[in-house]
Amino acid sequence: VFTEIKAQNTLALTQETDQPSFYFLSSSTVENLGLESGEPFDVQAIRKDFPILHQNVNGKPLIWMDNAATTQKPQSVIDSLSRFYQRDNSNIHRAAHTLAARATDAYESAREKVQRFLGASSASEIIFVRGTTEAINLVAQTYGRKHIGEGDEILLSTLEHHANIVPWQMLAQQTGAIIKVIPVSDRGEILLEEYAQLLSPRTRLVGLTQVSNALGTVLPVREMTEVAHRHGVPVLVDGAQAVSHFPVNVQDINCDFYTLSGHKLFAPTGIGALYVKREILEDLPPWQGGGSMIRSVSFEKTVYSDPPAKFEAGTPNIADAVGLGAAIDYITRLGMHNIEQYEHKLTCYATKRLAEIPGLRQIGTSPHKVSVLSFIFDDIPVEQVGQRLAQEGIAVRAGHHCAQPTMQRYGLTGTVRPSLAFYNTCAEIDTLIEVLQTLRFR
Ligand code: ALA
Repeated sequence: VFTEIKAQNTLALTQETDQPSFYFLSSSTVENLGLESGEPFDVQAIRKDFPILHQNVNGKPLIWMDNAATTQKPQSVIDSLSRFYQRDNSNIHRAAHTLAARATDAYESAREKVQRFLGASSASEIIFVRGTTEAINLVAQTYGRKHIGEGDEILLSTLEHHANIVPWQMLAQQTGAIIKVIPVSDRGEILLEEYAQLLSPRTRLVGLTQVSNALGTVLPVREMTEVAHRHGVPVLVDGAQAVSHFPVNVQDINCDFYTLSGHKLFAPTGIGALYVKREILEDLPPWQGGGSMIRSVSFEKTVYSDPPAKFEAGTPNIADAVGLGAAIDYITRLGMHNIEQYEHKLTCYATKRLAEIPGLRQIGTSPHKVSVLSFIFDDIPVEQVGQRLAQEGIAVRAGHHCAQPTMQRYGLTGTVRPSLAFYNTCAEIDTLIEVLQTLRFR
């Protein structure tokens, strides 16, 4: 499996230019991107669907480049929320009246949309949660509590967001389990041989982000899952930063758990999904107790519902689940392959332009990366760069990005992180570069 990945990386490397060394920059398409006018889609038309993008901030047109923190919402998602509250609002699953039926249908139809979006085999494998953080806490406190004990090992990559570190640390403190860390290269890629060596007879779970939120690296999660499974170890993939950038299929990855956050997928905050493979789901103990997750209750005994209801105690976030369904409809219409292709061109262009700026060092230079463009200036604090950009209407995140171990790996406390989505343009990148070019001469 890893020989295959190495061959792909070698191919990428042989296409590198001298300065800077990104394989995709050698392509002549950099000079002739045709991004604003050509296929695969018309970005100016798409931007009209996002009302928030059309405003001035600090007297300048807003340039939203903080998509790894959260994405903006198309009008169809905003409309789906008001339509739900204007017409369909009801609690679900309980009352035998018309609005309850409508709300239930809308909620369950959103679950089916997530199922199809992720390529899960059944809608019952999709549990609605608040977001990726809650999803991982759920897995740690159910699967983890049941299967991970004293001296057992949890294997995580250096590139994890705090959301895929802290819940496992909490579990380790409760059970005496041990956390081991897969190292990464200077470019921000997983060291696959070290990973294989870290898998031991005591490994009980591997937790991997599919895309690093701080560096943009795409991890080879399918191959890494295959290797873990050879050792009989289940794999959790944190898809929070992946699903907005390229098509995902959980059956193809063959992971056991997969998580996403709606707000990073053009949907509202407070809604996300956890995929659990059917074989594991059957064996998973309940998490939070309460209404909706039971079949019968007496003071002596409770019989739980079948999944996914078993894991959705209390009234769920019905309206935002409907909004998540609307967001999936929207990006499905655009086409995830088109989005991937367009963003790849944006990434090439931005990487090349950033390399023109004296004193700017890009952090995270894997050839397999999405449109997350971390950088530092050795002599200007990241907060100062972030503030200067904000004055010009450009929104980026500057800091540790909830990924302090990743920062520590590179001897840093933070980076400046523009992160792009399919509604960003080359013209916006040019404006970013113009402002960055002025930084030293103020
Ligand atoms: N996880 C979000 C980020 O990377 C908040 O900025």
